[in-house]
Amino acid sequence: PPLDNVINLHDFEIVAKGVLPEKAWAYYSSASDDEITIRENRLAYQRVWFRPRILRDVSSVDWSTTILGQKSSLPVYISATALGKLGHPDGELCLTRAAANHGVIQMIATLASCSFDDIVNAAAPGQNFFLQLYVNRDREITRKYVQHAEARGVKGLFITVDAPQLGRREKDMRMKHVGDDAGAEVQKGQSDVKKDQGVARAISSFIDPSLSWKDIPWFRSITKMPIILKGIATAEDAILAYEAGVQGIVLSNHGGRQLDTARSGIEVLLEVTAALRLRGYLPDPKFEIYVDGGVRRASDVLKAIALGAKAVGVGRPFLYAFCSYGQAGVEKAIQIFREEFEMNMRLLGARTLDELVPEMVDATALTQH
Ligand code: FNR
Repeated sequence: PPLDNVINLHDFEIVAKGVLPEKAWAYYSSASDDEITIRENRLAYQRVWFRPRILRDVSSVDWSTTILGQKSSLPVYISATALGKLGHPDGELCLTRAAANHGVIQMIATLASCSFDDIVNAAAPGQNFFLQLYVNRDREITRKYVQHAEARGVKGLFITVDAPQLGRREKDMRMKHVGDDAGAEVQKGQSDVKKDQGVARAISSFIDPSLSWKDIPWFRSITKMPIILKGIATAEDAILAYEAGVQGIVLSNHGGRQLDTARSGIEVLLEVTAALRLRGYLPDPKFEIYVDGGVRRASDVLKAIALGAKAVGVGRPFLYAFCSYGQAGVEKAIQIFREEFEMNMRLLGARTLDELVPEMVDATALTQH
């Protein structure tokens, strides 16, 4: 269907399902075990209700923000999704070019199909990136990778902490053979590839399951980039992260792809902000909280921000957009977000993101399952 027919982010998923090779669809769309968490990621937003304010002169509204101090035209960043070339020959470069045209920040995946340098070389002047890191058992490989990214101007290091082992994504596992080389450019030299367990397992065996809180000072010693832990799921770990001195956390269940029946990021946000406030850790302009998983509407984003998030990550919608329409699809997704932000902020009575206060949402049902 022509791109003009796409009117919301859900549409990209429908189109992608129709055009993607079976293996790519299985890898991208799958979540772990019974796929309960991926479903909950959507349902949770539906348990948060708005309390809109009226008569506030919303003739002009502004949804731009900063993320880790970097300007972003949306309170949304493109979260890391691996293996873009399974779905489009240009892979992640579609995201890079679209992000450049619209002032959006792309998080580059350790397991991107395009090499890190190919992505950064395609950037526009001043374009900002974050790096998603899977930590290698061989720390020298990780050190070089991180320091190279910093030297190339990456603005934030997002260490994925919810994947000591990849979740069991059964749709993906049923596609037994890693038949093409979409992942071949990444993590050269990684052996121990098990080809009978689906794409995800095949490419992830280098990830170090021994990673622990004790490693954080080492990361601090090898880079000056802000460090963000991606995949925090409880107040307890949010407190440890804050006390470890990192610059931010992503409340995430990895798009439902890791521990099934883990809670949604938006639900976790409630207990995290409460616990950090109780200890006097918030507000802190040097510590940012992000949420990802299931965000498909600007209204979802506004709910997360009202409850204390600085920005949100979006994964599959951008992935499906470029698999279906290349760069133009991603630009359209960004345009849809813009239109939805404008309308929803007007209807909510918030002219800027700073005006999104907790009183604008009723989250009393959020923790009721
Ligand atoms: C991911 N995600 C992910 N996260 C990460 O830290 N490293 C990675 O390599 C990947 N790869 C990946 C591949 C695919 C196909 C998907 C769908 C997701 C998780 C991603 O960064 C983000 O947390 C979720 O995608 C957010 O959920 P939504 O927006 O997809 O619902």
